[in-house]
Amino acid sequence: MAENTAEHADADYVRIFDTTLRDGEQSPGCTMNVEEKIAIARQLERLNVDIIEAGFAASSPGDFESVRRVADAVRGPVVLSLSRTREEDVDQALRSVDKASRPGIHIFIATSDIHLKYKLNMTREDVLDAATWAVARAKKHLDYIEFSCEDASRSDWDFMVKVCTEVIRAGARVINLPDTTGHAIPEEFGRMFAYMRERVPGADKIIWSAHCHNDLGLAVANSLAAVKNGARQVECTINGIGERAGNCAMEEVVMALKTRHDLMGVQSRINTRQIYPASRLLSQVIGQPVPANKPIVGDNAFAHEAGIHQDGVLKYKLTYEIMKPEDIGIPSNKLVLGKHSGRHAFADRLKHLGVDIESIDLNKAFAEFKALCDKKKVVYDDDILALVTEEARRTTDHYELIDLHVSSASNSMPHARVALRVAGEEIRAEADGDGMVDACYKAIYKIAGVQPALERYAVKAITGGTDALGEVSCLLRENGMTVAGAGAHSDIVMASALALVNALNRLKGRSTMPLKPTMDVP
Ligand code: KIV
Ligand code: ZN
Repeated sequence: MAENTAEHADADYVRIFDTTLRDGEQSPGCTMNVEEKIAIARQLERLNVDIIEAGFAASSPGDFESVRRVADAVRGPVVLSLSRTREEDVDQALRSVDKASRPGIHIFIATSDIHLKYKLNMTREDVLDAATWAVARAKKHLDYIEFSCEDASRSDWDFMVKVCTEVIRAGARVINLPDTTGHAIPEEFGRMFAYMRERVPGADKIIWSAHCHNDLGLAVANSLAAVKNGARQVECTINGIGERAGNCAMEEVVMALKTRHDLMGVQSRINTRQIYPASRLLSQVIGQPVPANKPIVGDNAFAHEAGIHQDGVLKYKLTYEIMKPEDIGIPSNKLVLGKHSGRHAFADRLKHLGVDIESIDLNKAFAEFKALCDKKKVVYDDDILALVTEEARRTTDHYELIDLHVSSASNSMPHARVALRVAGEEIRAEADGDGMVDACYKAIYKIAGVQPALERYAVKAITGGTDALGEVSCLLRENGMTVAGAGAHSDIVMASALALVNALNRLKGRSTMPLKPTMDVP
């Protein structure tokens, strides 16, 4: 297996460890299929992240396959798999990254007494032995080993000093101290890093890493406090997706380091112009819109509404703007292409938006773009992105929407007639409903033979105007599984139908995949 040298171990910059594909993907409605994970991984490579956590290889054959495919697809970043301290986990994780140009493994075990007593049923000595044993085993096969003290922020610091001392002796190159439950406060979290770095022998030879959850809305603040106290790696996700309230948002921590370099003194090596395309791509893939007020990437992040602010910005931008939208990759002129644009310009625009044009049917996407130009006067970047991800969504489908007819009048029940291609066979159904979307959903459920709970349904106009592309996202739950779906179309009912069909395809994909064993996933 390839060896990784610590080429940047002494360079003073903050490594960005992206866990969108592992911790992010674990959150409800954020599951991705392998192709989607590869598209995100390629965008992470364009962002220039240092490390990609591609999954948890031992958790299911599907996860193992995803880690392998991502490891094969990217060349720049280290690609690693998460692993518990068990032999079978470590070996699966090692196998999953053996094709990576820069392979790594991330081994974790909880160190807090509450986890030891109630979850692991282990003593501190057991945990110390398990951690040291697992790191030593992995070290026989590869050099890049990260070790995490799960629930570090609620662990006894002196016990963590012991564990970290031993795992560093066994070969760990990175020590991660997570705030697993999002319980820490910045001052205290920073102090923990200072304490550990002062007492662990060899602390200056390894990289210290922070991994924060956002339960109290402090994930970014805690990560910055860790950096102030010597951490040189931050673990984060695009748009801050992740378990419960999410993980530290990559775009926020990266832009905080850049914007307040005067105070922080260190930066990441992220290509910040790829932030906006990454955010939009992820949002399209998981079917979860970015909230308008989300820092850095929300629609309103650079919108000035108050007259006094507008006046100031017009006179001198820095009166109210601390960052430049173009530094984040937000197109200064969102109106980009029209019906006279050629295939070349279209492909160029897609590349700028972070789309891997090799992985889509460009001719088909271009034809759809032209059709959209006929319907809409102006086509925006987000329209184009929605259109190609809609195209990508349709490629590996069990269900395909081929016809939809809805009718509604003030004196009659809304009615829908739907035709789906199901595994190659055309099936039709009709239904009445409380509204056109309800009728259409009922007809689709009849064809698919399912009755999932619709836990969320949201409509968003992707760009302005009544002719805008509408984006619908929905969340379905059936048999304990939650899947998201998204669809975009200039007709809202059509977008709703596409979103449902997309979710049903994911449900289908999930139910034919071996289920994850019941295990305590952090
Ligand atoms: O939150 C957590 O503790 C984790 C670890 C596995 C790093 O995700
Ligand atoms: Zn986590």
